[in-house]
Amino acid sequence: MGFLAGKRALIVGVASPRSIAWGIAEAMRDQGAELAYTYQNEKLLSRVEKIAADTGSRIVIPCDVASDEDIYNVFAELNKHWDSYDILVHSVGFAPREQLEGDYMDVITREGFQIAHDISSYSFAGLAKAGLSMMQGRDGAMLTLTYMGSVRALKSYNVMGLAKASLEANVRYMAQSLGPKGIRVNAISAGPIKTLAAAGISDFRKMLSHVEGTAPMRRTITPREVGDVAAFLCSDLASGVTGETTFVDAGYNILGMPELAGG
Ligand SMILES: NC(=O)c1ccc[n+]([C@@H]2O[C@H](COP(=O)([O-])OP(=O)(O)OC[C@H]3O[C@@H](n4cnc5c(N)ncnc54)[C@H](O)[C@@H]3O)[C@@H](O)[C@H]2O)c1
Repeated sequence: MGFLAGKRALIVGVASPRSIAWGIAEAMRDQGAELAYTYQNEKLLSRVEKIAADTGSRIVIPCDVASDEDIYNVFAELNKHWDSYDILVHSVGFAPREQLEGDYMDVITREGFQIAHDISSYSFAGLAKAGLSMMQGRDGAMLTLTYMGSVRALKSYNVMGLAKASLEANVRYMAQSLGPKGIRVNAISAGPIKTLAAAGISDFRKMLSHVEGTAPMRRTITPREVGDVAAFLCSDLASGVTGETTFVDAGYNILGMPELAGG
């Protein structure tokens, strides 16, 4: 029996078989969790339905996290299938493409800032709040995905770095607020992985090869490696862990002067 047997997880953020959320869903399924999914728009519906079916789930609910109505509707729909749930996975990030190209001061705009923070950070608290009554009394766990650009300045990552810093603070405030209810909130800071979202970041290929050449493990990581840590963090095995950001990045973040690390 897997260590998530008897748990129900809502997965927000599957867009393709390369999505980090897909690696998380597979790992949670393998540990015995029952799964439900959301999809951002009609274009993604058939893909998410297929992925859901591959993990034994028929619960697929629309949700554009820019819409409060959609967010509340997710739990109204979910409640038709489940009376409660245990795990929220938030694997959503977005900034307008022009924000992720060129120099930060050249491209930053008020609108770009607002969109990046709204979709990539606020939506985690928004979803958590909307579904809270379904998690009451369940020793629930919530998990989001962040990136090292929150704590280091990286070329081209630009306003997403600010949004990820906000998301990590969100994790700490949510953990403080929900801890007394027995709900834990954590983040995984993943190393670069080639996904649809990553394709929007200019020079992403160079980031991958830089990590391959310098990370202590001399490689990048897979969505499944993130998924296995996510499954652990959302399980009772991690019952004493909340408010944390855990790196799954082949060790890259520990390096000083990474350009010299490749030898
Ligand atoms: N790929 C990487 O290198 C990497 C590294 C660290 C962290 N992350 C983070 O992991 C998370 C998942 O990204 P991914 O790399 O798996 O890419 P992905 O493109 O597979 O997933 C991004 C998801 O965000 C969803 N999304 C975007 N805007 C949305 C909206 N308005 N409403 C609902 N959903 C919306 C998309 O539908 C998609 O499912 C993101 O938060 C990303 O920043 C990615």
